[in-house]
Amino acid sequence: MSNRAPLAIGKPLLFLALALPALWLVWQWLAFAAGAPHHLGFNPQETSNRFSGLWALRCLLLTLALRPFSQAIGRPWPLALRRMTGLYAFAYALMHLSSYLGLDLLFDWKTFTRDLLERPYIGFGMATLALLLPLALTSTRRAVRRLGARRWLALHRLVYIAGILAVSHFLLLAKGDLREAQIYAALIAGLLLLRIPRRYFLRDIRGQRAQGPANG
Ligand code: HEM
Repeated sequence: MSNRAPLAIGKPLLFLALALPALWLVWQWLAFAAGAPHHLGFNPQETSNRFSGLWALRCLLLTLALRPFSQAIGRPWPLALRRMTGLYAFAYALMHLSSYLGLDLLFDWKTFTRDLLERPYIGFGMATLALLLPLALTSTRRAVRRLGARRWLALHRLVYIAGILAVSHFLLLAKGDLREAQIYAALIAGLLLLRIPRRYFLRDIRGQRAQGPANG
């Protein structure tokens, strides 16, 4: 199968699928504002914070999973979806921050500063977003050309750190029942592990090649 065929159908479908949760949330808030029935529950702000946070994390996980998926099926096309899924992770993280700052705290900067100082998970969330920002800003082809492939790749490896910070954020805020946060942490750990042995393996091969046929 060519690299273009699955992308031609898969990319727009994935784009729509990942837009649906955001559209659902906006729809629910509009219904809430209009006094119509909605699904935001008794604490709409909390539902909104959690929903947008979960989708930011899911998109980040999906971005990290596309490389191993591409290797597993032996096709490069999933790699071309990473820019979109990464940008979705950033967009959901911005939505999450807006939900917390705007809808939950009503832009009460004093409470925000107090939360930031007293609740370590808020710091972890901010650090995750701070890492996602340069990745989103340099996600264009022009940025790759400007930075050069090596520097661009080095910068974009920060996505793994963002994943670790995001699950730390989740683990720290999950009161009592840690199971869901632990599942996400295990998934991130699994994806990181898949990445490490391959690099060591390649280093071994390169080392053997550098030593040349004298050893073989
Ligand atoms: C921008 C800075 C961030 C702030 C201020 C922030 C703040 C919050 C708050 C207030 C909650 C709800 C806590 C509760 O209800 O007990 C939350 C939940 C969450 N956040 Fe963040 N967050 C930030 C960034 C992020 C990012 C970048 C991600 C993921 C990429 C993320 C993922 C999550 C997840 C998964 C949850 C839990 C959802 C659940 O309980 O089901 N957050 N965050």
